[in-house]
Parts: sequence; C-alpha cells; structure tokens
Amino acid sequence: MASNDARLHQPPPQKDAADLNFDYMFKLLIIGNSSVGKTSFLFRYADDSFTPAFVSTVGIDFKVKTVFRNNKRIKLQIWDTAGQERYRTITTAYYRGAMGFLLIYDVTNQESFVSVQDWASQIKTYSWDNAQVILVGNKCDLEDERVIATEDGQRLSEELGFQFFEASAKSNTNVKQVFDCLVDIICDKMNETMEAETNLTANHRNRSLKDSSESHGACAC
Ligand code: GTP
Ligand code: MG
Repeated sequence: MASNDARLHQPPPQKDAADLNFDYMFKLLIIGNSSVGKTSFLFRYADDSFTPAFVSTVGIDFKVKTVFRNNKRIKLQIWDTAGQERYRTITTAYYRGAMGFLLIYDVTNQESFVSVQDWASQIKTYSWDNAQVILVGNKCDLEDERVIATEDGQRLSEELGFQFFEASAKSNTNVKQVFDCLVDIICDKMNETMEAETNLTANHRNRSLKDSSESHGACAC
C-alpha cells in the first residue's frame, strides 16, 4: 500500500527529456498515391507489424525511430502522408524541412507508377534542393499481379536521379534496407556540406593570412 502511494507520488517518466537525447534529427516523408502501402511500410519499419486491412490515412501522421551512425544517435521523425488528392494542400505543407523522401508506388498498379513524375515535381516545388529521395516499388510479394517490371522502375529512378528499391511491407523485404540507405545518403550529404564549409573557412583563413603577410612584405620593415 505504502509502496503504491510512493509510486503515485513519483513524477511521471520524463518522455520529453528522453526524446531530447539525440545528436541529430532527420525529418523524413513518405509520399505516393493512396493504397501503395505508405502506412504499411512505416508500421513494418517502426513496429515490425503488418495488417492486410486498408485504413486510408487522414491528413498526416508520424512515428519516431532512433538509429545509430558512427556512435551518433539519430532520431528519425518519419511522416506518413495521405495519398488521397483532397489532402494534398495539408501534406505538401510538410515537405519543407524534410531531409529525405520515400516516394512509393505499387508494382501491381500502373497509375501509381505513372504518378511518380507528379510526386517528383511536388518534391521539387515544395522541398529543399538537397533533399534526398528513394523511389520504392512496393508489394513485390505479389509477383503474379505485377504490372511494372523491375527494369522500368530502375530506368525511371535513373531518369529522376533517385536511388531505387523494390520492397514489400507484407513480406518484410528491403524495408529496413530502404530506410538505412536513406539515412546513409543524408549522412553523406551532410558530411559533404560540412567538409565544403570547413574548406571554405580554411581557404578564407589562409587567404587572410596570405593577404596580411603580403601586406607585411610590402611594408618598409
Ligand atoms: P493512403 O493512406 O490512402 O495514402 O494509403 P497507403 O499508401 O498508406 O496504403 P496502406 O499502407 O494503407 O496499404 C493499402 C493496402 O495495401 C492495405 O490493404 C495493405 O495491407 C496493403 N499492402 C501494403 N503493403 C503491401 C505489400 O507490401 N504487399 C501486399 N500484398 N499488400 C500490401
Ligand atoms: Mg496511409
């Protein structure tokens, strides 16, 4: 009884404080036509679960997952958008600030593949220039119903300059690999940018030193 009381008076777990315990935060977005499997993809990755029922997403939702790279803790904030057209204004408002996108189509649905071009234009219009994108052909477990050949997905991804995977949220094929790849390419891009900035600063410092030594040399000393 006393211990129950003591527990009642303890402060609740500091969820927010624990959530702040990370080195980097990557905001990722999952986009694509309705029913391609965006929500299923996220649930498979974050909770290792899959349900055959289709509950179309209303608006937008997110899940958080922490990964590690080079002893750094990276918190992934993964936004699952509704594919239905009527939510487009809400969902595109979330593109800004996203560091990575999973653009998903369904290998058994021609229309979802044709729409990839439109989704790519939406990324160009609403997101940062250096946002990284992976094109994912989902539902590759449905080999008998496939209408989009792997080579077509590959070709389109090359045209768009995106990485490419075929995957299945149902059979858990390539789901973790897709997210790992996206995190890796964001990290690479970040390192490139930091190196470029360091070089720029070093060049600037060298030039300042050179300038001052030149002006020193020009003086009458
Ligand atoms: P919206 O929220 O409307 O944009 O759709 P969504 O892209 O989030 O689709 P969702 O994840 O809800 O999946 C749609 C349907 O496809 C559901 O019935 C899922 O069970 C099914 N599904 C998703 N991924 C796969 C897969 O890899 N293989 C198979 N066979 N079915 C899948
Ligand atoms: Mg959904």
